[in-house]
Formats: sequence, C-alpha cells, structure tokens
Amino acid sequence: MPVDYSYNRYLQTTRTLGGTKNADPDHVHLSFGFPHSDLFPIQELAEAARQATLEQGRKGLHYYGGSAISYLPHWIAGRLEQIDIRVPPEQIKVTVGAAQAIEIAARILCNPGDEVWVENPSFFGALRMFRLAGAERIRSFEIDGDGILVEPLREELERRAQMGEAQPKLLYVMPNFQNPTGVCLTVERRRQLAELAQTYGFYILEDDAYMELNYSDAFEPAIHTFAPEHVIHIGTFSKIVGPGVRLGWAVVPPVLLKYVQQFMSGSQTNPYMQEIVSSFLQNNDFQSYLDRIRSQYKAQRDVMVAALLQHFGNVIEVRLPTGGFFLCVRFAQPTDVSELTRLAERHGVSVLDGSAFYGNREGRNTLRLCFTYSSPTEIELGIQRLAEAYKQLRSG
Ligand SMILES: Cc1ncc(COP(=O)(O)O)c(C=O)c1O
Repeated sequence: MPVDYSYNRYLQTTRTLGGTKNADPDHVHLSFGFPHSDLFPIQELAEAARQATLEQGRKGLHYYGGSAISYLPHWIAGRLEQIDIRVPPEQIKVTVGAAQAIEIAARILCNPGDEVWVENPSFFGALRMFRLAGAERIRSFEIDGDGILVEPLREELERRAQMGEAQPKLLYVMPNFQNPTGVCLTVERRRQLAELAQTYGFYILEDDAYMELNYSDAFEPAIHTFAPEHVIHIGTFSKIVGPGVRLGWAVVPPVLLKYVQQFMSGSQTNPYMQEIVSSFLQNNDFQSYLDRIRSQYKAQRDVMVAALLQHFGNVIEVRLPTGGFFLCVRFAQPTDVSELTRLAERHGVSVLDGSAFYGNREGRNTLRLCFTYSSPTEIELGIQRLAEAYKQLRSG
C-alpha cells in the first residue's frame, strides 16, 4: 500500500474495546458481556438446523430465504406486545444483530458532522458506530437511578431552537437494564423524551437489547409507544439465543423503510440462519426456555452482589439491577480503576474500567461487571481475586 494511503478518517478518532486476551483456562472473565454457554439450546438448535435445512433449504440457502422471512418478524411483533409496541411485521427489519441495526440507523439518519446525543455512560459499541458513521459531535447527558435526566436535554433543545442552532439528529437511549449501569428509564421520562422528539424533530434510537432478560416480570411501555413515528426500536437474539446467530431487528417507522431497504441493498439478512432460528422458535416452548435463563441469571446476579458485599462492604456502592447482564460498581473513595483493572488481570480476573462508557472517559470510579457469562463458583472466585487486587492497589 502506498505510504500516503488514507484510510477512513473516522477510524483515527474511534476507540475499539476488545475482551481480555488472556487464554488461561483458570482466568475468570467478568468483563465479557456474554450469555452463559451452558444455556445455549444446543440440542434444540441441532434439531432445528436439521429440520430447517430439509424443509426450507431449497429457499433458505438462496438470498431471498424461505418461510422464516415472514415468520420471524411476525414472532418478534408478538414479543413486542409485552411492551405495548403494536406494529405490522412489515415494519420489522431483521438485521445482523442489534449492532447492525444501530449502524443502519446512524448511517441513514446522520451526515458527517451531525450530532448524536447519548446517555452518560452509554454502550461503547454504539458510540463507536456513531463515530464511524461520521457523527463528529457526540454529546452525553447524565443519568440517575431513573435513567437519562430529561430537563438538561429539554433546556438545550429549547436554547438551540431560540438561537436557531442545529438540533441533534438522533438520541440513543437504552430504556431497560442499561449497559453498563443496569438502570431503567421511568415511564414518565419515556413519555417526555417522546414528546421532545416530536416537538424538536429528531429520532430516538431505543436500544432494548436486554428487554427479555427481565428478572422482575414488570414490563414498562416502550418509548416507541409514545411517538412511533419518531422512534426506531431495536432488539436482538444475541442475549436470548446466542450472539453467534448474529440476528437482531429494528422496528422502523414507515417513512424510513425505503432508506433501510436501500442501505441493506434490498437483500435478506442471513436467510439460512433465520430459518434455523424460526424452526427453533416454532418447535420449542420459548417462554419456559426463557424463564429458565432468567432464573439462572437472577441467581448469578445475587451471587455476585453477595460476594461483593462480603469482600468490599461499604468500600463500594452497587445498585441491584432488575434485569440484563451487568452490575455497575462504584468505589466510594477516589480509586484508580484503570490500575485496578490491570492488577485484577494479573490476579486472574478481567473486569471493565467504567471509563470506556463515559463521554469524557473519566469513568467516575466505576467498574462494569458481567454476572451472566461465568458460573456462580467462578463469580465468587472472580470477586475474591478482584478484592485481592484492590488490597494490592491500596497497599501501593
Ligand atoms: C445495549 C446493547 N446494544 C446492542 C448490542 C449488540 O448486540 P448484537 O450482538 O445483537 O449485535 C449489545 C451487545 O452487547 C448491547 O449491550
């Protein structure tokens, strides 16, 4: 390649975050935001693959796919009724995971230089996608235990309207079990955000990746229900079947459908894998499968909280999430969490420095811990190792 070859300029300013590279089998991974491998429906998917191949293979192995292309959006529409979203299956576009749904939204809504608003902290994967789509300005708004604070957002929108300044194109929000904090947005704030989107003419990208992993059975109406024409609601099979299937979806407002189609070149997403997942869903009791996952993750969450309290006591603050994958730990005293993360790695446990999720990278003394990927025994061991690392940090 010639030395002056110029790669995509947004790559220069976009940070990537991979998992730990430690291949030691004794290492505990609390940094990975992954499901538990023992919960993957291996036998059921093997049978689904056999059946899908034999019954739908002649179409499913084409670009255009077989019966899953209509079945899957129909199935997703049924699940979305839990959060009061009622849309025809034609508005549901199956994507390569929720990640591609985020990317498509960013690419069809933003021009280079446009502004995207996010929660502080927010999911680093989405921030990366916005940057790569050319959103040069990403503004973060604080959250508390009830989700994003609406008033600062409203004030800024009003100020810009008065000054004739450009408004953001997109607001990215995780309403349920936010990554990394585990916080849920109150219904009142959902309604208020929807009203602001209508008043000031921006879209809300409502990332509901963890919606089904609800450990309390209380479902709140989606932001989408309050302004369906201004909200793209997205979800994924990654957390409920497996990230390796790479299937997610977006509920797309009718005016945007043609742009999404254009971006996806009019083709179907992984049609063969859609057939397999559809066959799995049609031939198994999904609800009892999901209930099993929920109860195991809830138990693992409790094991992690108990271990944290045992080893750290009031050195940390931790909020009990009612769903999702993550616990966000905050140290009560100023703590060098990036050094702690490095020391923890040497003690045999990986954790995520919270700074990856904050717009200004300050991290605020926080760590993100994932309680789903590791077994209860591994979780206890991991927290014990983290406590040893913390002792070492304190002793200088
Ligand atoms: C909030 C959130 N959105 C989207 C994704 C991406 O999910 P997918 O595997 O469906 O691309 C993740 C994955 O960790 C996530 O935490």
